[in-house]
Amino acid sequence: MGAPHISMLPVLLVVLFSLSGATLADSHDDFLHCLSLHSADSASISKVIFTQSNSSYLPILDVSIQNLRVSTSATPKPFVIVTPLQTSHIQTTIYCSKTHKLEIRIRSGGHDFEGLSYVSEVPFIILDLVNFRSIEVDTKNKVAWVESGATIGEFYYRIVEKSKTLAFPAGVCHTIGVGGHFSGGGYGILMRKYGLAADHVIDAHLIDVNGRILDRKSMGEDLFWAIRGGGGNTFGVVLAWKVKLVPVPEVVTVFTVNKTLEQNATKILHRWQHIGHKLPDDLFTDVTITKVNSSQVGKKTIQAAFKALYLGGIDELIPLIQDRFPELGLVKQDCIEMSWVESVLYFGGVSRERLDILLDRNALPKQTFKAKSDYVKEPIPESGLEGIWEKFFEKEAEIAFMMMVAFGGKMDEIPEAALPYPHRAGNLYQASYLVAWSKEENAESQKYISWIRRLYSYMTTYVSKSPREAYFNYRDLDIGTNNVGYTSYAQASIWGLKYFKNNFNRLVHVKTMVDPENFFKNEQSIPPLSSSPKNKGP
Ligand code: FDA
Repeated sequence: MGAPHISMLPVLLVVLFSLSGATLADSHDDFLHCLSLHSADSASISKVIFTQSNSSYLPILDVSIQNLRVSTSATPKPFVIVTPLQTSHIQTTIYCSKTHKLEIRIRSGGHDFEGLSYVSEVPFIILDLVNFRSIEVDTKNKVAWVESGATIGEFYYRIVEKSKTLAFPAGVCHTIGVGGHFSGGGYGILMRKYGLAADHVIDAHLIDVNGRILDRKSMGEDLFWAIRGGGGNTFGVVLAWKVKLVPVPEVVTVFTVNKTLEQNATKILHRWQHIGHKLPDDLFTDVTITKVNSSQVGKKTIQAAFKALYLGGIDELIPLIQDRFPELGLVKQDCIEMSWVESVLYFGGVSRERLDILLDRNALPKQTFKAKSDYVKEPIPESGLEGIWEKFFEKEAEIAFMMMVAFGGKMDEIPEAALPYPHRAGNLYQASYLVAWSKEENAESQKYISWIRRLYSYMTTYVSKSPREAYFNYRDLDIGTNNVGYTSYAQASIWGLKYFKNNFNRLVHVKTMVDPENFFKNEQSIPPLSSSPKNKGP
């Protein structure tokens, strides 16, 4: 099966890229002129260019922004948004951005926690792949091609349209874009059984800094390794991904059991830390901590919501939980049988009435938030958990949660160096923290951000060390950033080792090979060694 939008590079573009060193006048107007001048079809490219004076500019900019913290009147805006309809539009945009020294921010679903797909401190344009959304599912061979601008919800919908027993192991929030999600790993409720989205990519189409369209064979195994978890906006524009689908039973079971402090939440959670990662691979569990109203009027308490997906029926699940985790007190009434795709909506907190909600890119409310992540390798003692509750009792944690996602299963089997995503064996669970506030309170965002930083600081004792690991797709600029200009290997390794551990070095070598001038970059993109003679590397 061929991927959509793959086409022969027009002769014009070959000539164009051979001239990429040429310097034209460095102005925005010249950039626009460049786009129409160097487009194989200037009429068609003019339809996908949105400047600030265009009435569609703001709606297009805002539509996929998820974190309103990085969408205020003070937030820097792109000089132009390009929404390509064909690969030549992307090639021309890369060429003209290079020539006119404008930074490119590639955007697929716009879910980046820090808004790096649509914000930059230097003059920039957005290359928005919203029109690169086609999906081809081949149930016979259990593979699919999915373009980067599709959401994972659109992808799930197209899979279940054709098969009730095929699925794909990616995230829960169905509005996430495939482009960013696969580029950073991508985990979800099938992770313990099958691993990450990136673990299932078997081919890809990418446009590199020189405008070449590459597939797995022509890009080579190093670059193909790097794009499966090494982060977006670093190695080129990934157009489409070929993935393996995975089998699931027609009926799966989910449950949610809520326990408050008065219902022994601390002890039950303490126990969960010892067993969540050892449960059978067919059983995924996570726990969400929030502050809720207590049964005593006017008082607050902490609630731990234990959620599970079991790849089988209720009758097998109940005895399994009663045997391995009796403390939870699971009863049949807590459990619901449904299809796999319904379980994704269940975990996403979305109504399961109509599956076509998966096609709605704006189905979920936008938030104003700051988030962070950790990996936990030893159970946190009860006294340590009580310290977390104290943080949640603080007033800034009105809309806040901590989520613990049990690892183990397939994640233990995949070697750390198999892909850039390194957080594999030895993790009991991934912890993530999020604090949100209303958009009107954005002027006071600092008090909420300080709260989450205090919580993160408190967690230091209990989480991974040297490095303190973090999940790339839960982007957090607090853990280190590149400079606007030249970034040394040493500086980038401050954040790079946390996201990628020892895989960071290989990512730097791949970057040096494929984009030595560091054209594709952002605050946390892998720097090449060759961007400065001083950059000596490891
Ligand atoms: P976006 O378009 O913002 O891109 C993210 C990064 O990738 C940017 O740097 C961008 O430039 C780059 N990029 C995007 N498309 C590219 C392309 N085609 N080629 C090259 N670079 C590209 N994660 C998870 O693993 N499991 C989960 O369940 C969830 N749940 C979740 C819920 C919510 C509400 C949010 C906001 C986020 C998550 N995430 C998540 C995190 C999510 O996986 C992460 O933010 C992804 O990068 C989002 O991908 P998008 O394409 O939507 O983002």
